Amino acid sequence: MGAVGQMLDLGAVRLPLDGEALFGSPVPLEVELGSGNGQFLLHWAVAHPAVGLIGVERARKYLEMAAARAERAGILNVWFVHTTAEDLLFRCLAPGSVTAVHVYFPDPWPKNRHHKRRFFRSENVARVAEVLAPNGLLRVKTDHADYASLIGELLAAESALQPTAADAEFEGLPATNFEVKYARDARPVHRFAFRRL
Ligand SMILES: C[S@@+](CC[C@H](N)C(=O)[O-])C[C@H]1O[C@@H](n2cnc3c(N)ncnc32)[C@H](O)[C@@H]1O
Repeated sequence: MGAVGQMLDLGAVRLPLDGEALFGSPVPLEVELGSGNGQFLLHWAVAHPAVGLIGVERARKYLEMAAARAERAGILNVWFVHTTAEDLLFRCLAPGSVTAVHVYFPDPWPKNRHHKRRFFRSENVARVAEVLAPNGLLRVKTDHADYASLIGELLAAESALQPTAADAEFEGLPATNFEVKYARDARPVHRFAFRRL
């Protein structure tokens, strides 16, 4: 199936991804892992026209929805990529090439036998730290208390990252699609902000 709207065909571009090749000028790059229907990233793109954004999402239906919305709204500083977060991080991004990584409401896989499917594990955290440029920012939100404790432990254990003031880093951030749903149920949200040393 062909690309839809602002959907990036990884087979048609040179890897590792490069801001200038993707966006026509050497912009800072930010990525959202598990961008869902693109609600957060599209708002963020409009608010930050001088930044190049990449959303990665493995569910093609949501990815296409987001890519089509971007095209309809004329938002051209964002590309949506249909692959896994792991493929984007390990194969498509160069070390030190990204100024921010956003991970909002990653699937918590609550059953013990499914924990191995969780995105947050030490090798993925280490690779996020590696693709971040010095002082680059990782922001994470989850509504799942048990997953939040694990995420907190994994981020604290990564020596290339240091915690930074979450209140300031999350101020004015647009809500994600899941966040809007969870807010209706008044579910508490756990937030993490860490910078690359
Ligand atoms: C709970 S939803 C949250 C979506 C969005 N971030 C939000 O807050 O509205 C998690 C999303 O991550 C996607 N996802 C889960 N694991 C992924 C992976 N390894 N790579 C890319 N996307 C993934 C799912 O398909 C789903 O759309």
